[in-house]
Amino acid sequence: MGPVSLMRPAGQPRPEEPVPLDLEEQIHRLKKERNAVLLAHYYQESEVQDLADFVGDSLQLSQAAKKTKADVICFAGVHFMAETAKILNPDRIVVVPDMEAGCSLADGCPAPVFREWLKDYPDHLVVSYINCSAEVKALSDIICTSSNAARIVSALPRGQKIVFAPDKHLGRFVKKQTGRDDIILWQGTCVVHETFSERKLIEIMARHPEAEVIAHPECEEAILRHAKFVGSTSALIEHARKSAAPVFIVATEAGILHKMAKEAPTKRLIAAPPEDESCACNKCPHMRRNTIKKVYLALRDLQPRIEIEENLRARALAPIERMLAMSA
Ligand code: 13P
Ligand code: SF4
Repeated sequence: MGPVSLMRPAGQPRPEEPVPLDLEEQIHRLKKERNAVLLAHYYQESEVQDLADFVGDSLQLSQAAKKTKADVICFAGVHFMAETAKILNPDRIVVVPDMEAGCSLADGCPAPVFREWLKDYPDHLVVSYINCSAEVKALSDIICTSSNAARIVSALPRGQKIVFAPDKHLGRFVKKQTGRDDIILWQGTCVVHETFSERKLIEIMARHPEAEVIAHPECEEAILRHAKFVGSTSALIEHARKSAAPVFIVATEAGILHKMAKEAPTKRLIAAPPEDESCACNKCPHMRRNTIKKVYLALRDLQPRIEIEENLRARALAPIERMLAMSA
């Protein structure tokens, strides 16, 4: 047997190494020293959210990344989110706590396969959900997020042929919202949003007749048909805050409950159940790779960094800029 390499992949933090006990203080110090901003998605662990300068949904995080004057962006989210921040900010350092924090939707739409698939639809406009790689963005005409997908599709001329990728559930929801029946869907799904059980949801609804079901559009139709409100993470939080209902059954990643409880402190929040309640399937395994220890290491070492080749970045930027212009 040849020598075994103990080297870690370039740019990966070393989570096993000892770190200071006062991690929160050290993160505050490093943010100041590096002129860094910490952006976090609502699906992050609560302690990461509490340390962030800005917590938001995918669209808000892209908008915050575009606006920031910081020299360093530490992005506590998944890879495609940090990559979008880098596409918008080529001159800034963008670091992620864990480079392996992927997304099942992005992983389920490899660019070479997507490029071939698009050949069957040469006269279609390509609308891609932001949960995709820079390469897929570069093959798209316009990007959308869960908070603006229906608005963006509605703004396209009637009669315009459209393909929508990669989330088939969001795509089906957009078709319903816009009445555009002929949109062609890439058949991707999110592993987290597919775990919710309709059977268990109905049981909980029967136990809490006063509750409103609210759901993210990445959920299956069987869940969405019970939802009083369907929206992006930020829209769900806003709805819980404003609605008169005293109880909500929340069908999305469980990390959202932290911010929702802060914004709607008098409401009772129940996480929608996965079929197998012994698993933590309603927690995104990718998002949860980020810990405050890794946030500290990323700010300390300015690694791992997102880097994108300039030609690809410029091609991926155009459809993102189109989305941002339509969402201003
Ligand atoms: P939002 O657009 O609501 O932030 O959702 C992102 C996401 O990854 C949902 O799984
Ligand atoms: Fe991707 Fe689903 Fe995780 Fe969102 S919850 S980042 S769509 S795997």
